[in-house]
Amino acid sequence: MRVFVTGATGFIGSAVVRDLLDAGHQVVGLARSDTAAAALTAAGADVHRGALDALDSLRSGAAAADGVIHLAFNFSDYTRAVAADLRTVETIGAALEGSGKPFVITSGTSVLTSLLPLGRLATEEDAGSVAGPRTAVENAAIALAKRGVRSSVVRLPSVYGPGDHGFVPILIDLSRTKGMSAYVGDGYNRWPAVHLLDAARLFRLAVEAAPAGSRLHGVGDEGVPFRDIAGVIGRHLNLPVVSISHEEADSHFDWLGAIASADNPTSSALTQERLGWRPVHHALIPYLEQGHYFNR
Ligand SMILES: NC(=O)c1ccc[n+]([C@@H]2O[C@H](COP(=O)([O-])OP(=O)(O)OC[C@H]3O[C@@H](n4cnc5c(N)ncnc54)[C@H](OP(=O)(O)O)[C@@H]3O)[C@@H](O)[C@H]2O)c1
Repeated sequence: MRVFVTGATGFIGSAVVRDLLDAGHQVVGLARSDTAAAALTAAGADVHRGALDALDSLRSGAAAADGVIHLAFNFSDYTRAVAADLRTVETIGAALEGSGKPFVITSGTSVLTSLLPLGRLATEEDAGSVAGPRTAVENAAIALAKRGVRSSVVRLPSVYGPGDHGFVPILIDLSRTKGMSAYVGDGYNRWPAVHLLDAARLFRLAVEAAPAGSRLHGVGDEGVPFRDIAGVIGRHLNLPVVSISHEEADSHFDWLGAIASADNPTSSALTQERLGWRPVHHALIPYLEQGHYFNR
């Protein structure tokens, strides 16, 4: 299959490209700079020059492919990034309309947090909360199934692995700066997580075989108590592990405050059953214990 990948040079996208190539697919990556183009060529992928705000580049990339995986996201302004994400899904969706081709988009398990407490693990059958900004993007992708697109949504938890510049490194930097590793309240709020290489494999399986209109959960750890994460960080940095109040969470964790306080236990049982996907790499705490994150 010739797969057009947006975000192909990112943390997750690079691993998705590797997995697709290793499985014998051809990859065409969206590149918005010479640096990105060179990285894609070095990885063995073809280059499609363009950007999220160059809609013709998205249309032509999608139309020339057998399937699309959309991972590009500009984190510098979250509200604008979500609006751009919706526009991207609508643009690529329209280019694929009636083709029956697969279109896999990316969301986060955080769309489920304001539905909780459910008293159970959240599942693939739970629609995201209307308050979640990415829920509208998910719904737009799911609706494409009725327009002849084999669309699917991969919801990701915190993704960890080589090259991570996301939640875990940010927590580690914050702990260094503040001189303590904090958790909120009793710290039993749970973070789901997945190893990068397991997440990458799920994107490949989704483009190959996800049913039209399906939500998938790339979840390895269903929910790691936040105090366990804070504990590993404190031990490796030789810092005190401290409980802070809910009122202090935003000032301590800044924009990460709501996420650090959230309870987000999530299952991937239906995804595993439907696609035969199994997370096989180290779980989050044993992975952190290996120490890679703490070598500056
Ligand atoms: N990492 C996690 O733990 C996590 C958790 C849940 C959900 N997710 C979701 O997974 C997706 C990928 O995340 P990531 O961690 O891999 O992000 P990342 O490492 O920051 O990569 C972002 C990718 O998007 C590309 N991009 C950004 N703005 C663009 C634009 N205007 N035009 C074209 N390309 C653009 C970047 O290209 P350049 O190389 O040119 O910068 C890069 O390839 C996102 O939707 C994210 O919200 C991630």
